[in-house]
Amino acid sequence: MKKLFLLMFAGLLAISCTSKQNTQQQAEEPTKKALVLYYSVTNTTKQMAEYIQQKTGADIEAIELVNPYPTEFDAIGQRRNEETSAGILPELKPLKANLDNYDIIFLGYPIWGGVYALPVKTLLKSGALNGKKVVPFCTSGSSGVKQSVDELKKDVPSVQIPASIGMRSSLMDKMPAAVDRMLISLGLIEGQNEPWADYSAQQAPTAEETEIFNAAISTYPMMNGTKAVSVGSRTTSKGTDYKFIGEANGAKMDIYVTKENSGAAPYFTGVDR
Ligand SMILES: Cc1cc2nc3c(=O)[nH]c(=O)nc-3n(C[C@H](O)[C@H](O)[C@H](O)COP(=O)(O)O)c2cc1C
Repeated sequence: MKKLFLLMFAGLLAISCTSKQNTQQQAEEPTKKALVLYYSVTNTTKQMAEYIQQKTGADIEAIELVNPYPTEFDAIGQRRNEETSAGILPELKPLKANLDNYDIIFLGYPIWGGVYALPVKTLLKSGALNGKKVVPFCTSGSSGVKQSVDELKKDVPSVQIPASIGMRSSLMDKMPAAVDRMLISLGLIEGQNEPWADYSAQQAPTAEETEIFNAAISTYPMMNGTKAVSVGSRTTSKGTDYKFIGEANGAKMDIYVTKENSGAAPYFTGVDR
C-alpha cells in the first residue's frame, strides 16, 4: 500500500514537472515577428526597407555579397549580363538572421531587367524562403512589382505572398503613404484605409485621357513611342487613378497613372509587362 502511494506521488510529481517544463518552453520560445530583408546597391530600396522597419518594429538585414556589385549603372548592368549569360548567381554572405524565427519576411530589391536583382535570385534558389510568408517590395525606374512576383512564385512555388508593393525611384516622396496603406491592410499597423473601387472596364481613351497618358509618360524617355490603347479609371479622394493598356513595338503593358485634384502634372506609378 505504502509502495503504491509512493508510486502515485512520483507520478504526480512527474506530471507537474512536465507541465512546468511546457510552460517554460512556451515562455522561452522566441516571439515570432517580422524581418525586413533587402538588397540595395544605390540605397533606394534601402530607404524603403528602413521605412518598413521603422513602422513595423521589425528586424532588418541587408543581403550582402561576397564580391559586391559596382555602384555605377552601366557597370552593374555589364556584370549582371555577364553572370546571366554564364548562368552564374552571385555568392552571398551567410545571413545573420535565422529565418525560422520570423512569421513574415519583407523582401526588398531593385528591379533589374524587369525582375529582382540577381542576388535575390541566389537567396531564393538556396531554398531559404521555401514555405515562408513573404511580402515583396521593390524600387525601379518604371517597372511595377508584378513581374518579379510572378518570377518569385516560379522560383519558390511554396511561398505565400499576402501583399506586394513597388515604387518608382522618382516617386519616393509618395512611398510612406503607399507603404502605410499596405501595412494597414495587412493589419500590421493601426489605421484606416480609404476604400478604393476597382478600375472601371477598359474602353477606348477619350482625347482628355490620351492627353493625361501622354503627359504622364513624357517624363520617362524609355516610354517614348508608347500609345494608349484603352483605359479604366477610379476616383479617390486624391484625384483619379487610371489603368491604361499601352502598346509599344507590338508589346502590350499595363500603365498606372494618377492625376491629383491639386492640379499637379499627372504621373505614372508603374508599368506591368
Ligand atoms: C542593371 C540594372 C537593370 C535595371 N533594370 C530595370 C528595369 O528593368 N526596370 C526598371 O524600371 N528599372 C530598372 N533599373 C533601375 C533600378 O531598378 C532602380 O534604379 C532602383 O531603384 C535601384 O535600387 P537601389 O538603389 O536599391 O539599388 C535597373 C538598374 C540596373 C542597375
